Amino acid sequence: MKIIIINGPNLNLLGKREPEIYGVETLEDILMWVVKKIDNEDIKIDWFQSNHEGEIIDRIHDSIGKFDGILINPGAYTHYSYAIRDAISGAAIPTVEVHLSDVNNREDFRKISVIESVCIHSVMGMGKKGYLEGIHFLRDYLNSEG
Ligand code: DQA
Repeated sequence: MKIIIINGPNLNLLGKREPEIYGVETLEDILMWVVKKIDNEDIKIDWFQSNHEGEIIDRIHDSIGKFDGILINPGAYTHYSYAIRDAISGAAIPTVEVHLSDVNNREDFRKISVIESVCIHSVMGMGKKGYLEGIHFLRDYLNSEG
């Protein structure tokens, strides 16, 4: 099973960025933690981060035929990128949305996710554990699909 973790804008600043909201670990720390946690499972992880909408869309397209599932934290694009929404929908790869923070308990603009309806599941407010939770959700979903 191959899963790609796609991270959107400003997530490269994790560790420095608003640590009271996002914690003190870097994106690499989080991804390495996840990879270690699934060490004994038959899951291959690739990951990608970009601050650019088009690059995220290209990576979703490039995932067709290469990955069985996508875990995506689109950062602020979550709240308004219909282009990323359409890429997820068009690629038709089972996709889980993840957010480190609890977007439903922050500013109002964060309560809207335009990608939620094209994802099989959303995880939020669990910090790095949400990434693991998202991968396990994808694993169980893909296994049940046979
Ligand atoms: C985020 C939440 C978004 O609202 C924000 O713009 C981010 C990170 C999260 O992981 O909690 O960049 O996706």
